[in-house]
Amino acid sequence: MPADSKTNESVSMIDNTTGKKVDFPLLTGTEGPKVIDIRTLYSGLGFFTYDPGYTSTGSTESKITYIDGDAGILRHRGYSIEELAEKSDYMETCYLLLHGELPTSAQKEDFENTITRHTMVHDQMNNFFRGFRRDAHPMAVMCGVVGAMAAFYHDSTDITDPHQRLVASHRLIAKMPTIAAMTYKYSIGQPFMYPRNDLDYAENFLYMMFAVPCEAYKVNPVLSKAMDRIFILHADHEQNASTSTVRLAGSTGANPFACIAAGIASLWGPAHGGANEAVLAMLGKIGTKENIPAFIQKVKDKEEMLMGFGHRVYKNYDPRAKIMARTCHEVLSELNIKNEPLLDMAIEMEQIALNDKYFVDRKLYPNVDFYSGIILKAMGIPVSMFTVLFAVARTVGWIAQWSELIADPAQKIGRPRQLYTGAAPRNYAPLHLRK
Ligand code: ACO
Repeated sequence: MPADSKTNESVSMIDNTTGKKVDFPLLTGTEGPKVIDIRTLYSGLGFFTYDPGYTSTGSTESKITYIDGDAGILRHRGYSIEELAEKSDYMETCYLLLHGELPTSAQKEDFENTITRHTMVHDQMNNFFRGFRRDAHPMAVMCGVVGAMAAFYHDSTDITDPHQRLVASHRLIAKMPTIAAMTYKYSIGQPFMYPRNDLDYAENFLYMMFAVPCEAYKVNPVLSKAMDRIFILHADHEQNASTSTVRLAGSTGANPFACIAAGIASLWGPAHGGANEAVLAMLGKIGTKENIPAFIQKVKDKEEMLMGFGHRVYKNYDPRAKIMARTCHEVLSELNIKNEPLLDMAIEMEQIALNDKYFVDRKLYPNVDFYSGIILKAMGIPVSMFTVLFAVARTVGWIAQWSELIADPAQKIGRPRQLYTGAAPRNYAPLHLRK
């Protein structure tokens, strides 16, 4: 814990049974509410805290991303997501997340060069892929293949070596789009496309997804720009479920590829990254605009969830959702899609929900996933690949957070405590005496 986090203030806790009182120091970050340092709670009072879902628990100190959920603010290393989405590009955002500063032009060129030259995967991985069923969910394949990277790239698994940690970070950022596109190509029975070094990150991904070896493929610049922006919007989001999973796995000293595979598994859930897929399933189920009021009633009756709405931290409009909605209109106009029933339904649902007391009272606003599925679908990305794209983009956030954890001298193995409510001590009954 850095010395400049300490304040002269404290919070006292008194055990009303014994009268014992302990003071806990208050810490302050650059922004955000003050934090009670309760590390001495157990030694001082003999209690644990109970906080399912960690709604009030800070698990780490971090310098990477700041969110003010009430104000709808998201910043990476101090830069607002709006400014990054508008003025930056994904490679620059990756550098910023990893290294803490925007790159100079020489640093940017060097970084892009490094990432570009790590995009190919070990040739043996092609055989590894062939062990999966063709109809496997791409996220299942991603979990397996990324975890297996430790077997293919063993020379970057020594986490005590900062150089190996950096090489693993570069390999993960560079190879994720290749692996993601391979999962798609494998599922439709097309040959894997090798990455092309003359294309940028987003262009290369679209090329590997949609090109075939027998004809030339030109990437649409509006779509690659939109893809780059989608990558920026998903790059990091402080201590969310998948990032916390990566950190928890990393705290044991597990190798970076295993940690990122754990993050991918955590992201897959519909309450997290799987929501973009769930939004389209929900819109498909509702079918037409006329059915929206009946669906909203079911949500209020707790029979349905409004997927793509609500967030643990944002109790205001998710700033990423606003940019995503704008990008959605750009993409549909570029593709000359004038009447997209899914978009019409999404806009209508958003308006109804934003004005309905049920959603207003609970501060439920659209999150980043509400519009992303519609854009991705318009770009021809199959629904089962939506969460995979999220994983590609979030890899930099996961690996930046993992690197911060490993370099932190104060880091300890993550090990929560519990409130035990099971059986009291009892004697073992031999089998013949059990009823
Ligand atoms: N639809 C309907 N009601 C909801 C929704 C929703 N999407 N989200 C929350 N609520 C309701 C809850 O039922 C609860 O109502 P109550 O007070 O009457 O019991 C109230 O709002 C508060 O909800 P919590 O469950 O306390 O919110 P929590 O912070 O635990 O959950 C979460 C956040 C998991 C994101 C939730 O809003 C959700 O499941 N949303 C849908 C899935 C989704 O879009 N996930 C993507 C999140 S963003 C991301 O990961 C990229």
